[in-house]
Amino acid sequence: MALYSEKVMDHFTHPRNVGSLPDANGIGEVGNARCGDIMKIYLKIENDIIVDVKFETFGCGSAIASSSMATEMIKGKPVSQALELTNQAIAEALDGLPAHKLHCSVLAEEAIRAAIDDYNKRSGKTTETTVVEG
Ligand code: FES
Repeated sequence: MALYSEKVMDHFTHPRNVGSLPDANGIGEVGNARCGDIMKIYLKIENDIIVDVKFETFGCGSAIASSSMATEMIKGKPVSQALELTNQAIAEALDGLPAHKLHCSVLAEEAIRAAIDDYNKRSGKTTETTVVEG
């Protein structure tokens, strides 16, 4: 059996929504300390709807496929729905990831939340997802 599903290979070799958004109003960047991979998500939100989304991922194929799928899953959706997107849902939409690659889909979930947090901060809203450290 192939290690990666056809969907993973498709989104890895033809990633959707790659790039940056000059007029983004929410930007989230997260990294995985273990592998050193970095993912950045740009959101353009209007009236609480994600009207555009792009990503830049410096990472493994699973991280690129996860970013591509995750951006497709939140495009055109309300912010509240994007906040509910889990890494399991992203992995399922990709027809699965190998167990040792599941953490790559976590990056996508975290990057989207970080971008929404940034949007909320910029627009003066507070958010339940903000993690206060220290
Ligand atoms: Fe680092 Fe996949 S190995 S995100």
